[in-house]
Amino acid sequence: MYIIFLGAPGAGKGTQAANVARELNLAHVATGDLFRQAMEAETELGTQVGAHVARGTLVPDELTIRVVLERLAAPDCARGVILDGFPRTQAQAKALDRALAEQFKSIDRVIYIKITEAELLRRLSQRWVCRNCQAPYNIVNSPSESEGKCDKCGGELYQRPDDTPQAVKKRLEVYFSETAPLIDYYTAAGKLVEIDGEGGIDKVSRRIMAVIREESRARRA
Ligand code: AP5
Repeated sequence: MYIIFLGAPGAGKGTQAANVARELNLAHVATGDLFRQAMEAETELGTQVGAHVARGTLVPDELTIRVVLERLAAPDCARGVILDGFPRTQAQAKALDRALAEQFKSIDRVIYIKITEAELLRRLSQRWVCRNCQAPYNIVNSPSESEGKCDKCGGELYQRPDDTPQAVKKRLEVYFSETAPLIDYYTAAGKLVEIDGEGGIDKVSRRIMAVIREESRARRA
C-alpha cells in the first residue's frame, strides 16, 4: 500500500503518518525527517539541504526525488510506504508516479489533512521535536512525560529552527504556491480524501483510520 499525507505545515502529517505506519506495519518515509537527520549528522546531504530547510524554502526537486527513490528501494519499503511531506511539487508527484509505474505499482490514497491557518500557527508555536527520532510533541496538548526528553527514545527535545514566525510565513507561502496544487492533481486522479484536521490527535486519527480501513476492504474485495 502506498499512502501519501498531504497538508500545510503543522497540519499533523507527521503525527498521523507515524500512527498509521505503526498500525499497518509499513515504513514511514518523511522527507523533512530525512533532511533534519542528515543535518544533525552533518552529512553531505545535510550540508546541501541545510539552508533550504532553515529558510523554509523547498530543497531542489532533483535532489529530493533522488533521496526519496533511494529510500523507497530499501527492503523495509517492500510491503508499502506511508509518505509524509513528499511529493510537494508537480515534478515530484510525476517522478513518483513514473517510478511506481515501472514496478507496476501506484499510489492508493492521498490523505489531505485540512486545518485553518490560525490552528496551524498555534500548533507550530507549541511544537517541540526529538533531536534523535524526530517525534513531535505539543508542549500544551501532548507534552512528553519527562520534561525536555523524548518518551520514545530519551532524545533531547528542541524547537525546529524553521518554526520561527519568519520561516513559518515562508513555508506557508511555499505551501500555497508549490504544494497546494497537488490537491487538484490527486483529486483529478481520483486518489484524494480530505480529512478534517481540527480536534485532538486521537479524533483525527480515528477519521483517518476509517478511510484506510475502507481502502483495505476495497482492495480485498
Ligand atoms: P517537513 O518536516 O515536512 O515540514 P512541514 O511539511 O512544514 O510539516 P511539519 O513537520 O511542520 O508539520 P506536520 O504536518 O508534520 O505536523 P506535525 O505532525 O509535526 O519539511 C521541513 C522542510 O524540509 C521544508 O520546509 C523543506 O525545506 C524541506 N522539505 C521536506 N520535504 C520536502 C520535499 N518533498 N521537497 C522539497 N523540500 C522538502 O504536528 C505539528 C504540531 O501539532 C506538533 O506539535 C503535534 O504534536 C501537534 N499536533 C498534531 N496534530 C494535532 C492535533 N490534532 N491537535 C493538536 N495538536 C496536534
